[in-house]
Amino acid sequence: MASVTDYAIPNPVTRNRAGLIGKAVNRYEGPLKVCGTAPFAFEIETPTPAVYGWIVGAEIGHGRVVSVDAAAALAADGVLLVWSAFNTPAQAERGAKVNPHGQAAARPVFDDDRVRFFGQPVAFVAADTLENARAAAGLLVIDYQAEPADYAFDPAKAETPPGDEDSRVGDFEGAFAEAPVKLDETYATPIQNHCQMEPCATTAWWEGDELTVHTSNQSIKGPQHLLAETLQIHREKVHLLSRYIGGGFGGKGSAYEDLTLAALAARDLGRPVKVAFTRQQMFHASIHRPATVQRVRLGATKDGRLTALALEATTHCARDEAFTEHAAGFARSLYAAPNRLTGHKLVRLDLPIAGPMRGPGEAAGMLSLECAMDELAERLGLDPVELRLRNEPDEHPESGAPFSARQLVECMNDAAPRFGWSRRNPKPGQVRDGRWRVGMGMAAAIRGNFLLPAKASMRVDADGTVTIRQGMTDIGTGTYTILAQVTAETMGVPLDRVVVEIGDSGFAPAPGSGGQFGAASAGSAVLATGMVLRQTLARMAAADPASPLSGGPVEAIDFRDGLITVENRSETLAALVSRLAPAGVEVEGASTPAADARAYAQHAYGAHFAEVGVDLVTGEIRLRRMLGAFAAGRILNAKTARSQVTGGMIWGVGAALTEGNKIDTRYGSLVNQDLGGYLVPSHADIADVDAYFLLEVDDKANPLGIKGVGELGICGAGAAVANAVYNACGVRVRDYPITPDKILAGLG
Ligand code: MOS
Repeated sequence: MASVTDYAIPNPVTRNRAGLIGKAVNRYEGPLKVCGTAPFAFEIETPTPAVYGWIVGAEIGHGRVVSVDAAAALAADGVLLVWSAFNTPAQAERGAKVNPHGQAAARPVFDDDRVRFFGQPVAFVAADTLENARAAAGLLVIDYQAEPADYAFDPAKAETPPGDEDSRVGDFEGAFAEAPVKLDETYATPIQNHCQMEPCATTAWWEGDELTVHTSNQSIKGPQHLLAETLQIHREKVHLLSRYIGGGFGGKGSAYEDLTLAALAARDLGRPVKVAFTRQQMFHASIHRPATVQRVRLGATKDGRLTALALEATTHCARDEAFTEHAAGFARSLYAAPNRLTGHKLVRLDLPIAGPMRGPGEAAGMLSLECAMDELAERLGLDPVELRLRNEPDEHPESGAPFSARQLVECMNDAAPRFGWSRRNPKPGQVRDGRWRVGMGMAAAIRGNFLLPAKASMRVDADGTVTIRQGMTDIGTGTYTILAQVTAETMGVPLDRVVVEIGDSGFAPAPGSGGQFGAASAGSAVLATGMVLRQTLARMAAADPASPLSGGPVEAIDFRDGLITVENRSETLAALVSRLAPAGVEVEGASTPAADARAYAQHAYGAHFAEVGVDLVTGEIRLRRMLGAFAAGRILNAKTARSQVTGGMIWGVGAALTEGNKIDTRYGSLVNQDLGGYLVPSHADIADVDAYFLLEVDDKANPLGIKGVGELGICGAGAAVANAVYNACGVRVRDYPITPDKILAGLG
């Protein structure tokens, strides 16, 4: 079992002398955002007045563009150009990669006449104003040739993705057949969409052969390299910035046509160009989380020990863009069972492109197994928490690897009494409150933890200001803030002496935001860079006869309270730097995952508890209360971390109760394509949601001892709500979302 003692890792962050690590520091960029002075990509001021682009999406789901009659559009007010597959400037071949070690290949726009999915961008209009571009787009006459296509998700047509064979341990079929208590149920989750507040958008301009492009993307290198390859220019000629981002969630881990069209049009017109997708366009033109069908089979002894566990997930993806939603992956490590089967199957369809969305794998997968555990607990006559306690593994149940810090049990045991779990009536439908039947449910949370290589630079100026620069992104998660905290604590300076500059391809590269690896990866590099800067400054001071620190010893020199100090001698950083290097001292640093980093099974954990009311007359479901306890290593910022996990929990409520895209299988389109039809929880839907973190340090994860929190909160959250719905009214809906019609059908 994981220990909650603080590991004695000797670095400034883990010593945390100024107490900045973990502190609920306000957002670094908060004042800019509330004042409207943090420019998002579309809002960036351009050196000369910008031209506006409008993207036109295909009106068929599969086939080809036969012709585009642009005569009326080109004659309309203010129109500067119209592009389609028939006249777009030359770009590199799709998939070409010229620059070595690139993070992306060429992705030309309109490079052929094929329509691969409904809403795929097929034409582009640029005009002097957004209104004129949009009006002209409506004048385009596009002829299509539709072709037969597969739009319906039929799990029977699934195939095993190459290299993604089932994982088997022991003899699942034999053990399942013999198990005294069994469950065999199938759960389905629909297509879900990211719905970032800020749609994808780009502003681009050229100066000579140099391109400046502001875009909304989770990473910097990816879109920079994509543009360089597509436009066939050296990547040093592409200055790409993504400084403020209104949500990513995986959907901005890819780049879309706005990026390349803005760059191409700006070059062609010799003027800055702004291009954004609309909310409606985003549903088709950006990626979505694919639908899943998940068969769960559990076999247990009468006292609730799992003997057989299977989770088989089938998902869909786009015809030409393989993506597997690894919905069964988490089930390989969550519970002990000697006989196991997990695997993934894929159905390729002529639909928009499926891809990662917050908590890819776990977020969809836990909607099945964590309900199945609830159903099994009822069959066993066991409390759902107790069933999980009885199946807590001592080591990774498939690989045998030791766990790094794992506090799943502690999360459940700590949160259950706080929530009042003992008041839950295990018999469904027994608790009334006015027109409501009230129920409680719980689920575990687990999400993998990753660390990627990253670099950073750090500079001290003559006035003692410390500036950290990194090609990192903040997608709304708090990256600016936590990097400021790590920098301040490492250099022993107050937070208001730290400047954070990120989101710029000119800065030392970091992996960006995704897979909840951002804070750990970027933060580790910032710590490493700070250590280089400390060394550099210590040597300078010790070698300077004019410094009170003259003669060192270098190894004993420390940084605190804005001072560089040894024994009883000190001077301010500003005094040292202004005397010896008035232009400032700048260093670069890097962090790479330890060679044995994957020797431990590393995850972040949690437990969700939810209470809902169900109206048996209307089928209406209301969340009443929700509590999450999480253990994710050291927490860098109590406020932004809590915000991350509660945001995830709220998304889980949406996944359970309201969210989902329906496919119109006649056209391959998504029926609901705005926030009036795609229902995400609003404030009135989220009554009393709270979350907290257990004390933990994961010294196997990285030098900071932290793990990711960005995706953890959604994992399992929807299952806790679904289990509460069942406890409230006795209706088990295995086909998400749990809408009132399904409750009423279940009540009969
Ligand atoms: Mo994420 S959904 O791995 O950006």
